[in-house]
Amino acid sequence: MADIAVIGAGYVGLTTGTCLAHLGHNVTIADIDEIKVQELNEGEVPIFEPGLSELLTEGIKNGNLKFVVGASSASRNAAFHFLCLPTPPNPDGSTNMEYFHSAIEEIKDILPPNSVIVNKSTLPVGTASQLKKQIQRTDVEIVSNPEFLSEGNAVQDFLHPSRIVIGAESQEAATRVVALFSDIDATIQITGTASAELIKHTANAFLAMKLTFINEIATLCELVGANVLDVAEGIGYDPRIGSTYLQPGPGWGGSCFPKDSASLLQTANKAGFDFELLEKAITLNTAHLQRTAQKVIDALPEGKEIEKSKIAVLGLTFKAGTDDLRSSPSLAVIGYLLDLNAHVSAYDPMVNLPIEDMSKIEITSTAYEAANNADALVILTEWEEFADLNYERIHEAMCHPVVVDARNLLNPQDLEQQGFQYIGLGQ
Ligand code: UGA
Repeated sequence: MADIAVIGAGYVGLTTGTCLAHLGHNVTIADIDEIKVQELNEGEVPIFEPGLSELLTEGIKNGNLKFVVGASSASRNAAFHFLCLPTPPNPDGSTNMEYFHSAIEEIKDILPPNSVIVNKSTLPVGTASQLKKQIQRTDVEIVSNPEFLSEGNAVQDFLHPSRIVIGAESQEAATRVVALFSDIDATIQITGTASAELIKHTANAFLAMKLTFINEIATLCELVGANVLDVAEGIGYDPRIGSTYLQPGPGWGGSCFPKDSASLLQTANKAGFDFELLEKAITLNTAHLQRTAQKVIDALPEGKEIEKSKIAVLGLTFKAGTDDLRSSPSLAVIGYLLDLNAHVSAYDPMVNLPIEDMSKIEITSTAYEAANNADALVILTEWEEFADLNYERIHEAMCHPVVVDARNLLNPQDLEQQGFQYIGLGQ
């Protein structure tokens, strides 16, 4: 079993380190936040990720997992150094490498001989080869091992991955990293570092484009009287297309798709390639988010002005199963409504505090409270519990019983039977 340092106790670092400890490795996770490190050592997990807390407690108890402050404390005695640092976007869409570089500067001279740096963070293509020059250590190898974890399912995705991609310029380093995952049953792909880096961005950009495509088809369905759910089902049976990532929604978001698509576009621009298809997918997504907001405005009773309306929103997180609000489509849609001075009251099972920069949203502790005196109700995140609400009670609470279901979560007939006007997406 290997001695592994994981640098960064964010969502990727925590999942990676905890799961590697579960596989039997001796893992030390480092972070710069002292309080977070202390809490983690006490078994407190700062993010909502099913199964993570249990594995973390198991790791601490059996001695395979510990948390320390500072990258160098973790790296000093490790053979593998997993870099799991935030790579937020710069205003122009390129990747901000500040955290990454400062961690490298901190550890490059204290790495034990024959160490392997493993890049887990989503990094622009070419980073591994630049890093090799930057560290000036001929005895240290750089491997790219992109993560494909999806929030809310991260532990399962780590332990049962669709594939493990290892990008390396040295066969020996690749073999050593492959060995770390020997207890995981998965297809292993070994490539050069540039290809591994590009695989990550391409996967996210491709899925985002697939979503833009189905959202565009949803709009077309509304114009021609077709049902996008039937269309998605019909094309999904074709294994060349596949049935996942075909659920239309208010627009795609989250901490990865918008950032990684913009970063890939920047990479293409830098390389002198005009990646029109990807650029269009991104602008069409923004247009789709606006269109979703317009649907809500159009659903208001005749003569009701938006600035005098109360809109009830169900769902704030970027998707169900997470507490993450980063680049949430829901917040984007709400932003358009707030710009028009609508009053927005919102309920989300995972959010109970005012949202930074969006303090105008009235956060309620139940869906019924949010619906009180509302002129329209819109579902923006697909939390299952929204399907099980007492819609009779919601009907009574609202001023105008109209539901805009931007996730196609509810049964239109049921809602109509209860006296609602139901507006789905692409149906
Ligand atoms: C995404 C990728 O799915 C992971 O493979 C990747 O590792 C991760 O980014 C990352 O780069 O770290 P995640 O950000 O958790 O994972 O989100 P997804 O579950 O992929 O959803 C992204 C957006 O697409 C959400 O807004 C979601 O609501 C939307 N979506 C997804 C749909 O509108 N319809 C669908 O059918 C699927």
